This record gives sequence, structure tokens and C-alpha cells, in this order.
Amino acid sequence: MESPFKADALKGKVALLTGGGSGIGFEISTQFGNHGASIAIMGRRKNVLDDAVSSLRSLGIPAVGFEGDVRKKEDAQRVVEATVKHFGKLDILVNGAAGNFLVSAEDLSPNGFKTVMDIDSVGTFTMCHEALPYLKKGGPGRTSSSGGFILNISATLHYTASWYQIHVSAAKAAVDATTRNLALEWGTDYDIRVNGIAPGPIGDTPGMSKLVPEEINNNVREDMPLYKLGTRWDIAMAAVYLASDAGKYVNGSILPVDGGLWLSKPRH
Ligand code: HXC
Repeated sequence: MESPFKADALKGKVALLTGGGSGIGFEISTQFGNHGASIAIMGRRKNVLDDAVSSLRSLGIPAVGFEGDVRKKEDAQRVVEATVKHFGKLDILVNGAAGNFLVSAEDLSPNGFKTVMDIDSVGTFTMCHEALPYLKKGGPGRTSSSGGFILNISATLHYTASWYQIHVSAAKAAVDATTRNLALEWGTDYDIRVNGIAPGPIGDTPGMSKLVPEEINNNVREDMPLYKLGTRWDIAMAAVYLASDAGKYVNGSILPVDGGLWLSKPRH
């Protein structure tokens, strides 16, 4: 689907995306690139990174991939520095890396809970922390008048409660809290805007195929008047809006992009 935004909406920006090589993250990479940004992707799997980078380059988008795990501070630091070395600066950080699996609270080991917290919550904070020196106004490659932009991808699971997702719900709640607190501190001190997107069920993503088996999917559809699948494009367009000047007064917001699904209750 064609973008409603101008092709130069993100012209000259440099974006680093964790989890930017697949699923929703890759669509954000592509659309940021289509709107003028240069793209660095961080991920754990070299083959996924390589495929993503060649796809972006085939569209004429300047792109580079760096292997790394957001759970490792030294990886975060290395990848942020490599991005700045490669493109000269950093304007946008998107935290999209996430771990997930369905399991009842009873069967989930504390280490399983911790693993998802480490990837989603601590990983998001670690990336933000390592990127801060480059995103602040007056940082390397920046003017003294404007700071960069951070986008954290969370979910709507924790707005209510979700079966077999206690670890992810807790982790995404922490991501949203991180978004708001950084927006307050770094918006005030460094002119960095920090926002979030909370996607609903998005078709054709690793999350959907892993977390919503078809039989659950069909039952949910019957119960939820507003149930419909979103597309990766829907999330990417929200991301372009928030990252562009159109979103310049938006800070500390977490935008649910779920067709209103989390509001739904069974009809009867
Ligand atoms: C129960 C599990 C488990 C499972 C792992 N664990 N998988 N427990 N059921 N299916 C437990 C392990 O037993 C272990 O605890 C601990 O978690 C760590 O497991 P490892 O295998 O060592 O972890 P690791 O290799 O680091 O793998 C991380 C992962 C993995 C999260 C487990 O699944 C992963 O990285 N997946 C890829 C990312 C992904 O799925 N992305 C889609 C995100 S979609 P013990 O106690 O045994 O040591 C998304 C959408 C959210 O985020 C919103 C939904 C609407």
C-alpha cells in the first residue's frame, strides 16, 4: 500500500533498529528507508540480517547490519558505535527486539520469566542508555538545538491480563514505563522524544504464528467485536508519523495500533 507521507519525511536521518531484520521491525526499517532514512539493523541471526540488508539495498536504501544481542551491554555499545562510525551520527533508535513463547504461569520457570524481561525490558533500557550520548542535542553529528528520537515497541497485553503471557505482559509493562520515564527525563534535559507503539495482532509476523495458533485465533474472532488483523504496514506508518516532524510535539505517548481491539468485550 502506498504511503500517505512524503518520501522525504525522514530525509537525512540515521536509524538503528533492534529486531529490524524481520516481522514488524523489518517493515519499519523498510518504510523509514523509503522515507529517506539510512538504516542500521541489529539482530542475533546473521542470515536474517544479511537478507534484510540486501532487500533494503535493492530498494536503494543505505543499509547495514550488525550482529548483537540486546542482553549484552558490550554488544549494545559496539553496535551503537559502529552505526555512528558507518553513517556519521544517530537520529533514531527503535527497540523492536523481543522474545516470546506461550506458557502458563505455573509451568514458566523463573529463568524463563527473566529471559523475556532481559530481552524486552532490560534490553530496551540498555540500548537507550548506550545511544544517549549520540541522541542528545549537541551530541556527535547533531546540532545544539535538536535531540534525537526513540521508539519502543510494546503490546496491549498488559492493559488487562493475557493468558499464558505473564512474562511478556510484565516485560512490556516495563517497556511502557521506560518510555514514559525517559520521555520525562531526556525530553527535558536533552530534547530527545521517546514514544511507544503498542501493536495489536498483526498478520504474517513471527509473533502471530508463534503466539496465536489458528484455533485460538478463530475463537478470539467470535468473542471480540473489533477483532481484525492489522498489517505490518499499519505499525510502520504509525512509526513514520511519530519519528517525523509531524510528531514533534508527541513525547511520552504509547500509541495503541490495534483497531481498538483491547477495548473489546464479548457482546453478551
Ligand atoms: C517455557 C521456555 C520456553 C517455552 C524458553 N523457555 N522457551 N519455557 N516454554 N517455549 C525458558 C527455558 O526453559 C529457560 O528457562 C529460559 O526460558 C531461557 O531459555 P533459552 O532457550 O536458553 O533462551 P534463549 O535461547 O535466549 O531464547 C530466548 C527465547 C526465544 C525468548 C526463549 O524464544 C527467542 O528469542 N525467540 C525469538 C524471538 C521471538 O519469538 N520474537 C517474536 C516476538 S513477538 P530454564 O529455567 O529452563 O533455564 C512479540 C509480540 C508480543 O513480542 C505481543 C503479542 C501480542
